[in-house]
Amino acid sequence: MCGIVGYVGYRDALGVVVDALRRMEYRGYDSAGVAILDGASEIAVERKAGRLANLEAELAEAGVANFAGTTGMGHTRWATHGAPTDRNAHPHRDTTGAVAVVHNGIIENFAPLRHELESAGVELRSDTDTEVAVHLVSRAYTSGPTAGDFVASALSVLRRLEGAFTLVFTHAEHPGTIVAARRSTPLVVGVGKGEMFIASDVTAFIEYTRDAVELGQDQVVVITADGYAVTDFDGNSGVPTRPFTIDWDLAAAEKGGHDYFMLKEIEEQPAGVAETLIGHFDNGRIVLDEQRLADQELREFDKVFVVACGSSYHAGLLAKYAIEHWTRLPVEVELASEFRYRDPVLDRSTLVVAISQSGETADTLEAVRHAKEQKARVLAICNTNGAQIPRESDAVLYTRTGPEIGVASTKAFLTQITANYLVGLALAQARGTKYPDEVAGEFAQLEAMPELVARVLETAPQVREIARRFARASTVLFLGRHVGYPVALEGALKLKELAYMHAEGFAGGELKHGPIALIEDGLPVIVVMPSPKGRAVLHSKLLSNIREIQARGARTIVIAEEGDDTVRPFADHLIEIPAAPTLFQPLLSTVPLQIFAAEVAQTRGYDIDKPRNLAKSVTVE
Ligand code: G6P
Repeated sequence: MCGIVGYVGYRDALGVVVDALRRMEYRGYDSAGVAILDGASEIAVERKAGRLANLEAELAEAGVANFAGTTGMGHTRWATHGAPTDRNAHPHRDTTGAVAVVHNGIIENFAPLRHELESAGVELRSDTDTEVAVHLVSRAYTSGPTAGDFVASALSVLRRLEGAFTLVFTHAEHPGTIVAARRSTPLVVGVGKGEMFIASDVTAFIEYTRDAVELGQDQVVVITADGYAVTDFDGNSGVPTRPFTIDWDLAAAEKGGHDYFMLKEIEEQPAGVAETLIGHFDNGRIVLDEQRLADQELREFDKVFVVACGSSYHAGLLAKYAIEHWTRLPVEVELASEFRYRDPVLDRSTLVVAISQSGETADTLEAVRHAKEQKARVLAICNTNGAQIPRESDAVLYTRTGPEIGVASTKAFLTQITANYLVGLALAQARGTKYPDEVAGEFAQLEAMPELVARVLETAPQVREIARRFARASTVLFLGRHVGYPVALEGALKLKELAYMHAEGFAGGELKHGPIALIEDGLPVIVVMPSPKGRAVLHSKLLSNIREIQARGARTIVIAEEGDDTVRPFADHLIEIPAAPTLFQPLLSTVPLQIFAAEVAQTRGYDIDKPRNLAKSVTVE
């Protein structure tokens, strides 16, 4: 989820671009880079791995005078394809240095395009998917039907690309023009007087103009100092765009208009789930990001351990349901901090799945090292490209949801669950426990989930209203069965982390073995109902549990599938979520619990981005 910016106007482009990158650094900080045009035959490019400060030091050393010009673009990277190194930093240039590109997203069909270019003798100089685009535009501009026409060359290449991307091209022979395209990932135009901007979000140009235009899906914009023109990928004008006036201040703009990053991150979940799936089903097969494990090894595993901490551990609990169901492999889920100290039985036929948003959590890293010492193979699920845990693992699947800034995990959690399913399907495919058409069917169902997550977000006003009623409770209990049980644990953890309240999650069946003693008049209990159609037996059992607690005075807040009328008489408050396959329901039922915890915490006056005593990455054991 990189940050990109482009500028054409009368100001010093370098200053505008670097300032914009500083404001968009929250979108990724694996590397930063700029390209400046001043009419010379080569575009001046500087790029550097790491934070923007590294790039600024590099620019200072190279002499900012070498980057004079009134057209420029910049990029702050959140690595998806290729390690976070200098050579993979954007902008990328063609071999002549006349064409440059920056990119946010994934070009799914980069492999055949790369092959095509290499066969034609083009030497690619990075491991990114992005670089193919710049060479293709360069070639389209040099010969063939679009020769000499920059915009037509860019369009001809865009039509060949698959995946999700925002791409921005500049050409040394057209120093006052920028061509930018959008498919799925964001792109807004800032409309100034005698200057124009394009960027991933409005923070990039809010200082200069408040007039903006949001581009639609599959649209291309060409900006010059005097204006902008929007077309589709075929060059047809008259396509619908959304002009708007920015009424946020700068601080609010960075948070997408929200008071907290966490609230923005909750809203980013549909996109995060969708992006985590992109590119993982190719030619009828599930593919991982980095697989240094042979299919033969995937077939020979006889046991799976999942290790993780915090919310990632709860995501791990959900992995068990999917992997065991789809592969018939036994799965054990362990807190990473406990795993290596209890001498688990591991050998080369054990697969250890390590789940970590940061990829740096000390407990999880040590669990990975312990597993490797015992000859087990490790597959990492991680949100941070090139972090220590994926580096030390045998295979990696990245959750592609951009940096998570709120300390309490939200979008990372949902994308970890999504990644678990991909791991489960990859194992089922390799082991033949599911037919290829069944794997394809499950993947298609997963692809439908982001839209359903977006629908759950629409319940936010209702959930907040309920949350405010219970904001002063001293205890909140959470109840679920089957996959609803880890969701209940996660809901309770969110409330503890954010609102500093006593909260506990229980499996519905355990209620009678102790927790029911806690029920007293007015105690709020949040219940995650299974689908009445999916697992009817679980549904009726949990329904009995709700009756039992309601009879003892509990106030019930029930999350149930739309149309589940049987639950209505026992719900003091009912939050409805769309129907989904049983295993995938946690992607929906978790969302109201996140919103609930955030609202309770805000009502109690707490900073939900930085809960007390907690840290985002825990690098000590
Ligand atoms: C911290 C965070 C949690 C997170 C846990 C594991 O405790 O506050 O939100 O779930 O670490 O982090 P990881 O980066 O390994 O997923």
